[in-house]
Amino acid sequence: MTTSIEKPQSTGTTPPPVPEGSVMITMKIARFNPEDELGAHWDSFQVPCLPTDRLLNLLIYVKSYLDGTLTFRRSCAHGVCGSDAMRINGVNRLACKVLMRDMLSKDGKSLTITVEPIRGLPVEKDLVVNMEPFFDAFRAVKPYLITTGNTPTRERIQSQADRARFDDTTKCILCACCTTSCPVYWNDGSYFGPAAIVNAHRFIFDSRDEAASERLDILNDVEGVWRCRTTFNCTDACPRGIEVTKAIQEVKRALLFAR
Ligand code: SF4
Ligand code: SF4
Ligand code: FES
Repeated sequence: MTTSIEKPQSTGTTPPPVPEGSVMITMKIARFNPEDELGAHWDSFQVPCLPTDRLLNLLIYVKSYLDGTLTFRRSCAHGVCGSDAMRINGVNRLACKVLMRDMLSKDGKSLTITVEPIRGLPVEKDLVVNMEPFFDAFRAVKPYLITTGNTPTRERIQSQADRARFDDTTKCILCACCTTSCPVYWNDGSYFGPAAIVNAHRFIFDSRDEAASERLDILNDVEGVWRCRTTFNCTDACPRGIEVTKAIQEVKRALLFAR
């Protein structure tokens, strides 16, 4: 990706709105459209920014006023759905959770923010990647409760201590920030990746589940937990604060010792 294109300020006849109190920042956005000849390149946009904006607001501004062809995913805009994971200034984040007041410099220096798609998954268009390989790994670890015997006539009882065992890994929103920040996953996409292991952990350590050994066998595979090099990128990237690397270590220990 070498070319860089300065985009005009407006594609319409009326100038785009500039909110009072905003400062102009530069957004350098990675672009790719499989149907045009430009190939992968960067576009730069001048965007008005308020300290109360999230980065997602600025992307929506670009799409609404400067270039309607810009493509990205988002849904909830509140850090819940996990659909707007992207690489912001080289770090995987959810665009809706990046507050601009944390990025604007206090001394009024001009600000340039780079935005790229998450790495390790095929780019479909601009900031949108094909998530299927990620979800294939997720599905492969059987991320659902598996039990045998008759259907119970009341809820399955679980102690607070047993529930606490997997509380952290219930928080996953499948955003892929962790898996796509993992150097092992970048180098070899056949590794299950941290998100799949987190979701396996959630059921392996659930006292009501009866398929822990099945999942552990799956993760004992050559593409499983042993590929992890404990570099903690995944833990640093998780927008839900899940201790991802710790969960992976617990699965490793479960394989080595009593489950
Ligand atoms: S700790 Fe393991 S899974 Fe997480 S980023 Fe590092 S190598 Fe990947
Ligand atoms: S573990 Fe965290 S970073 Fe990974 S998919 Fe789940 S929420 Fe996203
Ligand atoms: S849009 Fe849903 S998490 Fe950001």
